[in-house]
Amino acid sequence: MDHLISLYDLTLQEFEDIFSLSEKLKKQVKEGVQHHLLKGKTLGMIFTKSSTRTRVSFEVGMYQLGGYPLFLSANDIQLGRGESIDDTAQVLSRYVDGIMIRTFKQSDVEDLAKYGSVPVINGLTDLMHPCQILADLFTVYEHKGTLKGLKMAYVGDGNNIANSLLHGCAKVGMHISVASPKGFECDKNVVYEAREDAKRSGAQIVLTEDPVEAVTEADVIYTDTWVSMGQEAEKEQRIKTFMPYQVNQELFSKAKEDAIFLHCLPAYRGYEVTEDIIDGSQSVIFDEAENRMHVQKAIMALLMGKHTL
Ligand code: CP
Ligand code: NVA
Repeated sequence: MDHLISLYDLTLQEFEDIFSLSEKLKKQVKEGVQHHLLKGKTLGMIFTKSSTRTRVSFEVGMYQLGGYPLFLSANDIQLGRGESIDDTAQVLSRYVDGIMIRTFKQSDVEDLAKYGSVPVINGLTDLMHPCQILADLFTVYEHKGTLKGLKMAYVGDGNNIANSLLHGCAKVGMHISVASPKGFECDKNVVYEAREDAKRSGAQIVLTEDPVEAVTEADVIYTDTWVSMGQEAEKEQRIKTFMPYQVNQELFSKAKEDAIFLHCLPAYRGYEVTEDIIDGSQSVIFDEAENRMHVQKAIMALLMGKHTL
């Protein structure tokens, strides 16, 4: 593993390595044990979109690993004024030991990795959000004790979260049903890749327009905003289209009795999910948000520290 750009690039072994190091680091940090695996290392963090969780969890995580995080808003660096990704990659590689980037185009993340010489971590693009889904699967594992053979139901927009969720579930052998309205399905190439991995892992992949079909007998129900960053102009239309896909008590009751609820956050109560569900006893959204940090620390240690278990 040289970069984290798409979950499809990772092996099952790499998923397992990330999860076991996450578990260890989480335990140690709660016991007050220091683990300066990246002492003296620097992470450049480029943001061309807003963030609360990704920024803070990477920044604090890097401090906890003994390294230094550098927040680089695209508004303030020359990238935002038209400097090329190629030059940015080569220049930053002379200063920092790793780059995390949140941006629009997946190809910009790929180009950073191609032209730079340090590990690149995808902190969200329009197409994918791999760090989020690693944290999500780790959270499911903590609550359910396993991943293989469970059923994940994702209801809503076939966006970056849904795409990476398809990749992640297919890799670990978790069945996944995605319910999204016509015209808002997951990326075709991602679906193809997930089906390839599913052949090996035994995961069943179901793509449907029917939210009830997706959530029936699910162990995990997941949704995300209907209006992702960059889609603000489509807000009114999207709300109308997605309203039948709201995760509410009626829909949730079709899942298994002990189903858990996930949301990458930020959430918009009353739209993609009702308050009673997201703030209810089966919601694990804050464990999920916390785990972003533990899992990303493991990712950074494995990529930038050449940490071996
Ligand atoms: N879930 C997530 O990536 O949140 P932020 O947009 O706050 O980073
Ligand atoms: N789909 C959302 C995820 C935010 C973490 C977006 O891209 O805005």
